[in-house]
Amino acid sequence: MDDPYAATASAYDLFAHPYRRPCESALGEILPRLRHDHGPVLDIGAGSGANAAFVLEHAPEARIVALEPSRSMRSLALGRIAEHPEWHTRITVRPEDFLEATLPARLGGALAIGVLGHFDAGERTGVLAELAARLPRGGVALLDLQEPAHPRRVEPCEFTAAQIGEIAYRGIAEAWPVGEEAMRWRMTYLSLEDERVLTEETVEHVYHHPSPERFAAEAAEAGFTVHRFRDTVLRILERR
Ligand SMILES: C[S@@+](CC[C@H](N)C(=O)[O-])C[C@H]1O[C@@H](n2cnc3c(N)ncnc32)[C@H](O)[C@@H]1O
Repeated sequence: MDDPYAATASAYDLFAHPYRRPCESALGEILPRLRHDHGPVLDIGAGSGANAAFVLEHAPEARIVALEPSRSMRSLALGRIAEHPEWHTRITVRPEDFLEATLPARLGGALAIGVLGHFDAGERTGVLAELAARLPRGGVALLDLQEPAHPRRVEPCEFTAAQIGEIAYRGIAEAWPVGEEAMRWRMTYLSLEDERVLTEETVEHVYHHPSPERFAAEAAEAGFTVHRFRDTVLRILERR
């Protein structure tokens, strides 16, 4: 079974750890604006479930519908949820991707972190329209626009590194522009003992990088006002 996130999932929370703090600050910011009376929070591309867990932990009334098509990422999320029996009635983790899932009729909020670039321009318009149709006026969605803002060549660079016991983990990214809006990313995940490579996995994704201006225009067209969260790639969308 093809799972494009299998390599990433090998140590996802470790690789994502340096990026968690701004994300949790933004989640903290939107928590009071989630409308639990209106519907569940939709977590698109829930990954290892870290964002959903944050909401469940800090918003006792929240219910979540998490969409996660990758089997390996989904198993990380379910492993996290398994530790918390008190969450079991509050979250549903669905294996469908956004484009094939039956969405709840109404949403109390939405998260789409690290996933927007998986949608091309037409699909992105569809995502924004589906969210706008389901959120209440004043309802919010939290998402991010991955850098760079404009496609360009990215030379190989180490984007994360961690040491767990005797094993070092490294993530290396490299990218090429593909047309006006997309980039082909090559991600290599390594584990090493001293200089000896124990595991090495490489995966490639085409990711869409709409410019912040273009995305703001698309979101406005769908009925959202876009607020940049501090000096980050995160955006809070508010349903007008
Ligand atoms: C970089 S991870 C981000 C995970 C998590 N949101 C986070 O912030 O850590 C992107 C996730 O989006 C999922 N994904 C990719 N395409 C998707 C789609 N069309 N619908 C829903 N999820 C998708 C992938 O399987 C992957 O787990």
